[in-house]
Amino acid sequence: MADRVVLAYSGGLDTSVAIGWIAEQTGAEVIACAVDVGQGGEDLDVIRDRAIACGAVDAYVVDAKEEFADEYCLPALKADALYMDRYPLVSALSRPVIVKHLVRAAKEHGASVVGHGCTGKGNDQVRFEVGITNLAPELTCLAPVRDLAMTRDKAIEFAEANALPIDVTRKSPYSIDQNVWGRAVETGFLEDIWNGPIEDVYAYTQDPTVPRAADEVVLTFEAGAPVAIDGRKVTVLEAIQELNARAGAQGVGRLDMVEDRLVGIKSREVYEAPGAVALITAHQELVAVTVERDLARFGRGVSQRWTELVYDGLWFSPLRRALSGFLDDLNASVSGDVRMVLHGGRAVVTGRQSTESLYDFGMATYDTGDTFDQSLAKGFVELWGLPSKMAAARDLRQGRSVG
Ligand code: ARG
Repeated sequence: MADRVVLAYSGGLDTSVAIGWIAEQTGAEVIACAVDVGQGGEDLDVIRDRAIACGAVDAYVVDAKEEFADEYCLPALKADALYMDRYPLVSALSRPVIVKHLVRAAKEHGASVVGHGCTGKGNDQVRFEVGITNLAPELTCLAPVRDLAMTRDKAIEFAEANALPIDVTRKSPYSIDQNVWGRAVETGFLEDIWNGPIEDVYAYTQDPTVPRAADEVVLTFEAGAPVAIDGRKVTVLEAIQELNARAGAQGVGRLDMVEDRLVGIKSREVYEAPGAVALITAHQELVAVTVERDLARFGRGVSQRWTELVYDGLWFSPLRRALSGFLDDLNASVSGDVRMVLHGGRAVVTGRQSTESLYDFGMATYDTGDTFDQSLAKGFVELWGLPSKMAAARDLRQGRSVG
């Protein structure tokens, strides 16, 4: 077995126990690697110290927030990526950036194995392991929960027996994964899909049913990327963070859904992604205004495929990369301003302007100044319907119904 294992470390019960569990079961030294993708919560220095206290020979923290925003969230925004038309890929997007740092750490520390805390039932084991072996085929993967029988009860027992510095009684009834793009909550009473989520499930959003004043925001995009909010320049990370706060305060971006996992089961997940939902809503609108019809129609199919590849753990696949190239091209014209009202759980677009706009007032207007030549429409309509008109005439002649 391996002499060194780099472990994806969150600071929670499972990965804290996994440090000693892996060491005990395999005899390997464990190096803990925590990646900051904007999950907030505990100070990461505290998390690093805890890893050492739990027996890691080395532990470190990587600030990947900007990288995550620029290289993962932004491509998802350019794709308007919503799995099953709703889920903005929160966890699915963070795995590849975490993988990159785990692989780098493994190389730096001469480790031949990368470990993670996923179970054998979810998508994340796939995303970690396919990502790791795509980037470094020589590495192998280890999931103590799945491969070394580290059940929840045994983990708690182990933590107590070894006096690990984690409060096992504070363990949340939910399984939570969060980053700057959003937050995913599952298990506990949510496993009964008839049970409605209660307020304490949420952390990024306020209750949208509470009356409050609306918030109007103007987002400026350049080539598909958010560059300013209300005229103030922002980085992609800052745009997401500010909208998490402002849209979150209005209850925007809550989702309660049953989704199709890659491993074949349907599962219930509650999400909140206020910044992602506000940004995607605005971006979709600007695509509608600035992207030519056929490119936009084709692009929707590309987006869906891109989204499914990322959901299914294939971020590092050639097809995902090629489709991202297509989507960058599609986004070249997606520049301009979108005005939105954030209120009552919704982000509603109320205005758009762009120097790249394909909306032509003269072409569209029904008032004076109309530049659209309606006389051309008569022949167009006739030729457009000609093939199916001829087929229908044939079918009627043969006594078949066309309705
Ligand atoms: N179902 C989501 C996905 O596969 C989130 C997975 C992690 N969720 C969680 N609550 N720990 O992308």
